[in-house]
Amino acid sequence: EETGKSGYDHYMLKEIHEQPRALRKCLRGRVDELGGTVELDELDEPPRPTAVQFVACGTSYHAALYGAQLFQDAGIPAQAFLASEYVTSPPPTGDALVVGVTQSGETADTLSALREAKGRGARTLALTNVVGSTVSRECDHVIYIRAGPEIGVAASKTFASQLAALNLFALATANGGDRDGLGALRDLPSEVQAVIDDSTAADVAAEYLDADGYFFIGRGLNYPVALEGALKLKEITYRHAEGFAAGELKHGPLALVTENTPVIAIATGDGELARKTVGNVKEVEARNAPVIAVTDGQSDIERYADHVLPIPETHPRTAAVLANVQLQLFAYHTAARLGRSIDKPRNLAKSVTVE
Ligand code: G6P
Repeated sequence: EETGKSGYDHYMLKEIHEQPRALRKCLRGRVDELGGTVELDELDEPPRPTAVQFVACGTSYHAALYGAQLFQDAGIPAQAFLASEYVTSPPPTGDALVVGVTQSGETADTLSALREAKGRGARTLALTNVVGSTVSRECDHVIYIRAGPEIGVAASKTFASQLAALNLFALATANGGDRDGLGALRDLPSEVQAVIDDSTAADVAAEYLDADGYFFIGRGLNYPVALEGALKLKEITYRHAEGFAAGELKHGPLALVTENTPVIAIATGDGELARKTVGNVKEVEARNAPVIAVTDGQSDIERYADHVLPIPETHPRTAAVLANVQLQLFAYHTAARLGRSIDKPRNLAKSVTVE
């Protein structure tokens, strides 16, 4: 087992460090930057849906929320559903495609939602890591994320690869032409490496081991990242953490904010979303909550932050992936300091095959 960890204390840390390689594998041979197009060999031709419904659980649901925003931005109506709640959703219309996002390809809730979608006459597509998995056999189409095996129960590199594969899928469906987006994807592996190499998340984590709880906030594509940051922290540290859309903080959670609840705020870019997130950060700062900003330095969030976990300036879609790397490291180092069973958290399973 020790050799399997290649010198790292845990599989999770090894897998966090494997992300640049996993991302390169995900992108290899699929991007024609000169032509501005994406080729997904698994698809004879990309399905051209009029609408997309994503179904997924856990970390994969956060990837699905991100994916839905990419399709919306490309002008294709899209929504993400928790697989276990899919039966209550409006049925897919016309030429809709239902996409199951599942690392293992074996999650019972996700398989059941996809079967429901098939029963309603929809075409289905699996976005998965495991060749030959149940989902890959049952869906009409499949896209592999090519992350390689993940041992840690809490997903890390597979989430990053899901986000990259969702970018490819959205670009292929929208029929290319987005040079900026493709260029940002090309640079993503080396930028992830730079974030890992320079991260001070271990030092920041060490300061908040006695926190009463942790709040993660973000908007737009950084909203699913906030949810994922909180889930990761809960899973491996057993500490209470919640992720919110930054705008929702004032509609309730703010009542819980004290000087002993760090708020981890993700703000990238210099647009309206970042500006409003900074506004929310001012509200928590006024209540003496410690603020940890994950930022590319384009907004003035740093002025209100106790700590900054920086990421390089990039496209908003890839910024979300980079921000998540800082949150993975923050969760990992908090759990390591607390001496938790990081690779096998209590009560959790890598793949849940019951509904
Ligand atoms: C379990 C794992 C989570 C994972 C979820 C969905 O609950 O502990 O880490 O996100 O299943 O798994 P999937 O294989 O469908 O992505």
